[in-house]
Amino acid sequence: MKLSLVSIRRRCRFWSRRCEWMFLLLVVFGMIITMHYWIVAKKDIEEQPPCIVLQEQRRGLFPLLSAVSTLLSHLSITHFLCYDSLWGAIQESGPLPWDVHAHLCALNEKVSVHDEAELLRAFRRRGLTLEYSSAEGQYTIRNSSSEAVNFEVPTVRVVLFEEDDRLHMLRRVGWRRRVLPPDCDAHPTLQCFPPNLAALPLPMRPFGPLTLPAPREDIDLLKFHYPDTWWRPLQPHC
Ligand SMILES: *[C@@H]1O[C@H](CO)[C@@H](O)[C@H](O)[C@H]1NC(C)=O
Repeated sequence: MKLSLVSIRRRCRFWSRRCEWMFLLLVVFGMIITMHYWIVAKKDIEEQPPCIVLQEQRRGLFPLLSAVSTLLSHLSITHFLCYDSLWGAIQESGPLPWDVHAHLCALNEKVSVHDEAELLRAFRRRGLTLEYSSAEGQYTIRNSSSEAVNFEVPTVRVVLFEEDDRLHMLRRVGWRRRVLPPDCDAHPTLQCFPPNLAALPLPMRPFGPLTLPAPREDIDLLKFHYPDTWWRPLQPHC
């Protein structure tokens, strides 16, 4: 490097016109590269979904989650923190900083004693809308008075599990998974976990301003939810 600089300087003394051109070219080239990277980097930032949760979103989530948990208890439906919300409860004693929504898991045997219309009515009476995805075996619950806003409205997702008699494991409900043979090891998408993790009475865990039921061995459930990554802090996927 030093050598080349010295040699450039030496040459420059003789061919100053050529050197001017060389430096000019270098400067222009450098500017083009810088601009290119600047534009690409800016585009990358713009394309990523925002990792920030707004105050309004948090303010909406906790009363919603509290109402859902109270109602589920009232209906004698066993439910507990799971997935990213369980991770948040362990890591942050609340939702993960980038997570707008909340996840609860519930036992289908306790849900199916109520008929669909009764459930809908019970939620509607409390100003909540309930939507069921039969493919995913999951309810999505929203505040029905949340008007159209330019941010993602927080929801509570209640994921249903039922015990498979042959496996003695809880597995996810929903037709997308029902077609799979009941083999938890061969099909990680069944998201199986042992029923003793959901055995009553469940411990309570702080979750932001709330206290919510959690699985018996919370780290154990994380191991089942995230078999490859449970041992390190969850990274934002945004
Ligand atoms: C639903 O939203 C309304 C208006 O923002 C609020 O007053 C109410 O407490 C919310 N209800 C629940 C259960 O979150």
